[in-house]
Amino acid sequence: MKSAEIRQKFLNYFAARDHEIMPSSSLVPANDPTLLFTNAGMVQFKDVFLGDEKRERVRATSSQRCVRAGGKHNDLENVGYTARHHTFFEMLGNFSFGDYFKRGAIQFAWEFLTEELGLQADRLWVTVYQDDDEAADIWLNEIKVDPARFSRLGEKDNFWAMGDTGPCGPCSEIFYDHGPDVAGGPPGSPDEDGDRYIEIWNLVFMQFERKADGSMTPLPKPSVDTGAGLERIAAVLQQVHSNYEIDLFVELISDIAQITGTTDLQNNSLRVIADHIRSCAFLGVDGVTPSNEGRGYVLRRIIRRAVRHGYRLGVKEVFFYKVVASLARVMGEAYPELLERQTYVEKMLNEEEQQFARTLENGMTILEKAIKELSGTVIAGETVFKLYDTYGFPVDLTADIAREHNLTLDMSGFEAAMEIQRDQARAASNFSVVEKLDLEGLEKTVFTGYSSLQTEAQIVAIFSPANEKLDIVPANGEVLLVLDTTTFYAESGGQIGDSGWLESGDARFEISDTQKQSEIFIHRGRLTSGHLRIGDSVRALVAGNKRSAITLNHSATHLMNAALRSVLGDHVLQKGSLVEADRLRFDFPMVPLCLLKKFGASKSR
Ligand code: GLY
Repeated sequence: MKSAEIRQKFLNYFAARDHEIMPSSSLVPANDPTLLFTNAGMVQFKDVFLGDEKRERVRATSSQRCVRAGGKHNDLENVGYTARHHTFFEMLGNFSFGDYFKRGAIQFAWEFLTEELGLQADRLWVTVYQDDDEAADIWLNEIKVDPARFSRLGEKDNFWAMGDTGPCGPCSEIFYDHGPDVAGGPPGSPDEDGDRYIEIWNLVFMQFERKADGSMTPLPKPSVDTGAGLERIAAVLQQVHSNYEIDLFVELISDIAQITGTTDLQNNSLRVIADHIRSCAFLGVDGVTPSNEGRGYVLRRIIRRAVRHGYRLGVKEVFFYKVVASLARVMGEAYPELLERQTYVEKMLNEEEQQFARTLENGMTILEKAIKELSGTVIAGETVFKLYDTYGFPVDLTADIAREHNLTLDMSGFEAAMEIQRDQARAASNFSVVEKLDLEGLEKTVFTGYSSLQTEAQIVAIFSPANEKLDIVPANGEVLLVLDTTTFYAESGGQIGDSGWLESGDARFEISDTQKQSEIFIHRGRLTSGHLRIGDSVRALVAGNKRSAITLNHSATHLMNAALRSVLGDHVLQKGSLVEADRLRFDFPMVPLCLLKKFGASKSR
């Protein structure tokens, strides 16, 4: 049975039993800052379970697109290592909002699996939460599952929660036994992590709300939330032992093999790329863009992981975006929004890959050398940090490569290097660092900023906040750049330095401040896209609005000086001033009125 047919059969089965068919909601949960991504079908019903939202219909069903990468439910690290984990998958679910409870949920699930889908009862295995006698009784005495294929498990396995806070409750899981040819043991056994017994459906008996302090309060009405992985059920019905062999993946993997020029269809990297294109494309559809924090950083990590797997297959060009067309063919009918935003998603992935591709090869060379020269089994934290900081390798990407070599990462060394960088960045925001830069051998900067706000220039030096000379601008963190010529006014006489940006092709470097040391102008900022290195030609552009505002405030200090002299007398001495874009400060000593009189102020008020 094709995946599309299973999806429809599920929805029809529950619709025929009074459930409202609800469309999949976005991967970005609406108004829910507690959750990174929609990680289960129940997310769009969270407020209904909590009693904060009322619905007319008390039963619903859906096929929900889910991402489990980052956050409480995170399968990213498992992708490529098991037959059943994905960053993106579709979850079939039925929901009761204070209507049926354990008995109803169990009866529906059993009937659907054994009668609608025709699964043999002796291939199924059921678990319940250790104290849940009620559910155990229904399974053993009403459904009459074989007690030899039944177990009670603890909180880790049989108590489900959406996140650290929110609705939660004991659950009962149904597993399918793929047979003795597949390695793995039944749920609760030491070998349970193998791929033989696969959880295909989780029935959650929603009873509590977990609060931020860890306390649990009963929900207004006991409810039901279930989740069945479409890909896992498809694997069972299509009689394959890996999700990556189901119809949804076969076409995708064969297209990826063609795009990457890979002949071995079993190559694990093809599977990883097939998984990752699904999450990346749908995250793009739902408006997530790669960035350095939050959801955008998870997306960036997944894209970079996929691109590295392309590199592993020997691909030397940008390729990942090309897989979107194949995904649109496979999933566009079920998710028309993918077709609508296909061009946009391709462009977004193409840009992100181009940006990473330039540093990937250099980073890989460094990592491969470190692995080759390694005497133990742990990659040094400094190497992990350098890859992260300079070459844009997210830590889990380095961990993925390490795992392929049976190596691990020195995470405390990484954290220590990160902490040193934070300290340096803190110190760098204190201007005295600029004073210490080793500018030996550099020419005076040509300043053309009185007559123009932009100029062509060349990067002649790059410094880390710790005054280290660098060849390339790192992907993350602040650096100090010296150009041969600049239009950026450097801080002096109380007037703050200019800000703006540098551009070169798709590279953009945001400048937050400009300082001067011995007539050499130092631009502080960070790379926000692309790559820059010593010798690159750039266009330097001062933020014009800000410069105009600073110029106006500069003129205003002269006016204020003149006005004060005219009101208080010529003795008014400017002691200092601060000229910024949105304010100015003019310092002068306060002279008591009696002294003003004594010294004959020209006017008084
Ligand atoms: N909400 C049920 C599950 O994700 O397993």
